[in-house]
Amino acid sequence: MARILVTGGTGYIGSHTTVELMQAGYDVTIVDNLMNSNIDVLDGIAAIVGRRPDYENIDCLDYVALDKMFEKYADIVGIIHFAASKAVGESVEKPLLYYRNNLNSLINLLELMPVHKVKHIVFSSSCTVYGQPDADHLPVDETAPIKPALSPYGNTKQICEEIIHDAIHAKSPITAIILRYFNPIGAHPSALIGELPNGIPNNLLPYVTQTAMGIRKELSIFGNDYNTPDGTCVRDYIDVVDLAKAHVVALKRMIDGKQDDKIEIFNLGTGRGLSVLEIVETFKRVNNVDVPYKIVGRREGDIEQVWAKPDKANKVLGWKAERTIEETLRSSWQWQQHLNNMQKPD
Ligand code: UFG
Repeated sequence: MARILVTGGTGYIGSHTTVELMQAGYDVTIVDNLMNSNIDVLDGIAAIVGRRPDYENIDCLDYVALDKMFEKYADIVGIIHFAASKAVGESVEKPLLYYRNNLNSLINLLELMPVHKVKHIVFSSSCTVYGQPDADHLPVDETAPIKPALSPYGNTKQICEEIIHDAIHAKSPITAIILRYFNPIGAHPSALIGELPNGIPNNLLPYVTQTAMGIRKELSIFGNDYNTPDGTCVRDYIDVVDLAKAHVVALKRMIDGKQDDKIEIFNLGTGRGLSVLEIVETFKRVNNVDVPYKIVGRREGDIEQVWAKPDKANKVLGWKAERTIEETLRSSWQWQQHLNNMQKPD
């Protein structure tokens, strides 16, 4: 079976995608420098799948090490490129770190692909490229205009998309699929892999689960005076396993030569917008736990509402988000409980 390189494969979305790839029969080589993940994730993957992915501790900024890696795994046919820095706030403080990490790692891969005859790449992008879509573009489809980025992180996603476009336009012998994720949440139903919190969580779900666990005193809900049904922001929360499966389908589409264009873009979301309060209340209900919260001021840079029109992915990829929000929020809680048990001293 074909081998896939997964950069950032020990990370949140990367680990779930590795599981889906291996369960679909692919061999996987993970490249990750563990700057925001833990090597133990490989045990979780192996426990779910029954075999271990190959792993190389390489920083994607290291061209020479990547080159050697491609030589070692000469059967790589495609790449899923997750490795990137992803904290919006940190990117405002350390923009050059973000530009260096996110742009140079992609450039290294795009340069090495033709050298090693690797034809296909799936790129992790984000709905952040749409900014706040105009009312007539909600739900947002792939034709919505790209808005000026609100953070260096968002800008790296836009520039990376352009770099891929330009490389293919310049006749690089590769094909690409760009996947624009909405808000990934949840964990594998086995509770053996999930999102690993790094310090105080920025994102909603890790904050909710840690508050439910008593690690945080209360959740701050950033603003309830938005122009939305209950005043809190609306997002399209997509289950991470559903998201992972879309990568397998996208890669297979390229390998099978089914693409309409050498570069294709898909929104990955559920098509349903949920407010912060709806998430918190649903989480409490399905898990039968309390999540103390207070309403505080708006968070700078937050978008009021955005959710996906996933029709193109549904029709062209034949992929659809399947897990219900209840199942997803249960899996988040199970993962938090698993983490807690692991961290308890014997
Ligand atoms: N929120 C809270 N309290 C928290 C954390 C979040 O109320 O403690 C709210 C936010 O204000 C927002 C919603 O929960 O309304 C979701 O926030 P997240 O931080 O989980 O997600 P974002 O939609 O802000 O961020 C996502 C991706 C980023 C991407 C960004 C672009 O995580 O990668 O969209 O807007 F850049």
